[in-house]
Amino acid sequence: KEKDQLPHQSNASGARSSTKQPFFIGVAGGTASGKTTVCNMIITQLHDHRIILINQDSFYHSLDAKMLQKVNEYNFDHPDAFNMELMLSCVEKLKGGLTVNIPNYDFKSHKNTEHARQVYPADVIILEGILILHDSRVRDLLNMKIFVDEDSDVRLARRIRRDTIERGRSIQNVLDQYTKSVKPSFEEFVLPTKKYADIIIPRGGDNDVAIDLIVQHIRMKLGQHNLCKIYPNIFVIHSTFQI
Ligand code: ADP
Ligand code: C5P
Repeated sequence: KEKDQLPHQSNASGARSSTKQPFFIGVAGGTASGKTTVCNMIITQLHDHRIILINQDSFYHSLDAKMLQKVNEYNFDHPDAFNMELMLSCVEKLKGGLTVNIPNYDFKSHKNTEHARQVYPADVIILEGILILHDSRVRDLLNMKIFVDEDSDVRLARRIRRDTIERGRSIQNVLDQYTKSVKPSFEEFVLPTKKYADIIIPRGGDNDVAIDLIVQHIRMKLGQHNLCKIYPNIFVIHSTFQI
């Protein structure tokens, strides 16, 4: 799911020498809507920039033995299922040019694994997850907000295939969870965040035009930033002209 980053110059506290702020993109949408697919397409097209992908899934609370006994009653689609404070602190550190450790989550055991991922700051940071647009503090950090839109029946069909093959679930288990918590929480918490999106992508990864437009916009923003560093006055004059 993630594209590994090469280490780069950083001092003892993990801060990097550049003052450049990363371009933050948030990608939300229902389960199996194609969020990861869209992110990977953006990453592939922006291969000449340093990009990191951070999944909200990495910040799921681990379930203890008591909770695991009642795992079928647990709502993994509720905002409280995530450690948002930890996610915010990681994102803020990356914004400040610091290296962070992102937890690794295992969907089969419902726990964090021991191996955290060390992530270095980058030109572009993509945050992806069902509820990435839910918390206003996260929204405020984003330069671009995307919502991937796909029919519920298509998403359910994909989820059955994925969860039985990759996440160790039975078809009955996927259907029960979908009816009990995934669908109601999508309607209550995920769908209402669509209104915060700058861009809504129908048909996810099949929508090449939308992905091309997004990539063009990011390239333009990254280019503008570099020009701004070389010729700072150009952009002052330009903004005066706009007013
Ligand atoms: P999300 O990150 O929103 O959960 P993914 O991008 O991981 O969604 O896609 C979920 C599943 O659906 C994966 O198995 C993926 O291969 C499949 N999938 C995603 N987009 C498409 C598509 N356009 N056509 C067919 N299958 C797709
Ligand atoms: O990749 P996707 O966006 O589908 O991941 C989010 C989904 O993972 C949620 O809809 C949630 O129901 C599911 N999930 C799960 N078991 C966990 C953690 C999350 O089924 N342990």
